Amino acid sequence: MSKNNTDKVFARNLFSNFSSSISFDTRLYFEDIELSISYSKALQKADVLTEAELNQIQNGLNNIKNDIEKGNFDWKDDLEDVHMNIESKLHDLIGDVAGKVHSGKSRNDQVTTSTRMHLKKMSDHICSLIHNLQIEIVKKAEENILIRMPSYTHLQRAQPILLSHHLMAYFEMLERDLSRILDCKERMDELILGSGAVAGTSFNIDRDFLAKELGFSRINRNSIDGVSDRDFVLEFIACLSTSMIHLSRLSEDMILWSSDEFQFVELSDNVVTTSSMMPQKRNPDFAELIRGKFGRVIGSLVSVYTIMKALPLSYNRDMQEDKEPLFDCIDTFTSSCEAMSEIIKGAKFNKSSLESALKGNLLATDLADCLAINGVPFREAHIIVSNLTKTLSSEGKTLSELSTDELNSLLDSDVDVELDIDISINNRDKIGGTSSRMVREEIKRAKNKLKI
Ligand code: ARG
Repeated sequence: MSKNNTDKVFARNLFSNFSSSISFDTRLYFEDIELSISYSKALQKADVLTEAELNQIQNGLNNIKNDIEKGNFDWKDDLEDVHMNIESKLHDLIGDVAGKVHSGKSRNDQVTTSTRMHLKKMSDHICSLIHNLQIEIVKKAEENILIRMPSYTHLQRAQPILLSHHLMAYFEMLERDLSRILDCKERMDELILGSGAVAGTSFNIDRDFLAKELGFSRINRNSIDGVSDRDFVLEFIACLSTSMIHLSRLSEDMILWSSDEFQFVELSDNVVTTSSMMPQKRNPDFAELIRGKFGRVIGSLVSVYTIMKALPLSYNRDMQEDKEPLFDCIDTFTSSCEAMSEIIKGAKFNKSSLESALKGNLLATDLADCLAINGVPFREAHIIVSNLTKTLSSEGKTLSELSTDELNSLLDSDVDVELDIDISINNRDKIGGTSSRMVREEIKRAKNKLKI
């Protein structure tokens, strides 16, 4: 080959590799084919296709779908993306009539519509994974319903709580995640197909029919916005980022709690690894990976924000760059959520370590509350208790080491106080509190909701 020709081939390959999205957008094949079948039906209703042509197209597209699913489809980089590959294959199979499918349709409305279809499906899948994790959490809470432990603020021991109450906090976070994803799904549930390249379609396409066919509940009202918009991608990644925060916080609890310092929990063998050098180690790798993978997910969000910022209307090829971060974020989230379910399922909580951490001045608030209920202004009670703990501390003691008599004599007040961990826990008996009655009720509500 002459030098000139070699340069041309090099340039062609470089460009096709550079602009191709085949390495990542083939996962939209199913939605792309469904979309083209429905669009062809709309074209037939609009008299652009005959019944026979529609049948030919439908059969061709279904054959392509089968080939892809059997791994018999030869994806070509030089055909740029999933849409062009399928379009070109249809042409190979049924000839020129394939070209009619594209009457009034552009890849600009096609790509966003198929991405929305895909994300709607993925929203359901992700919600089911979150639901499974909630089931593991609620089961653990119920199994360990009465184990007591300190709560923490600033990672300092704060007040006694039930472990089950702590675990159920994660159930609540995941409830919000679910509702955010469902909100986001509701907002993205809008048909864009029929917007054409940017200005709308001149063909007599029945968009209501298309929306019904493709499972959309609404139709977009502005074609320019339709092909330009990636809010739904941003919002979806933001939902997963927030949920990933929750997974990373639960990971952190498991990492801390499984350390020798805490010994609150023993993680199962399938989620820990040993060190190649230190034989005693049981490293909480799964939890650490989940914690670390948040970085990728938030990275995806920042990528798509940056891609979209200040893009002129309407479609720009920059927008093809939304897919890798989007899909990576979905894969990272789904594997993390599944891994977290495994971690919780196998976690064995160590009652004696949890309960023996109930030492120190955990009941200081109860003491102040007790004085306040008996008429001492709370601010004054706070000072009294604070001074008492300071005095005790100078003697190397804490409240938990005092007998009731010692306590009452030190307090020098008319009020008879009694400090007790169970009383403290069960006194917090309003909705949201840690009393065993309240936690049982919340577990019951959760089980009803989860249908378990
Ligand atoms: N693969 C492209 C994307 O993901 C499809 C749209 C291409 N449109 C165009 N006018 N080149 O955005």
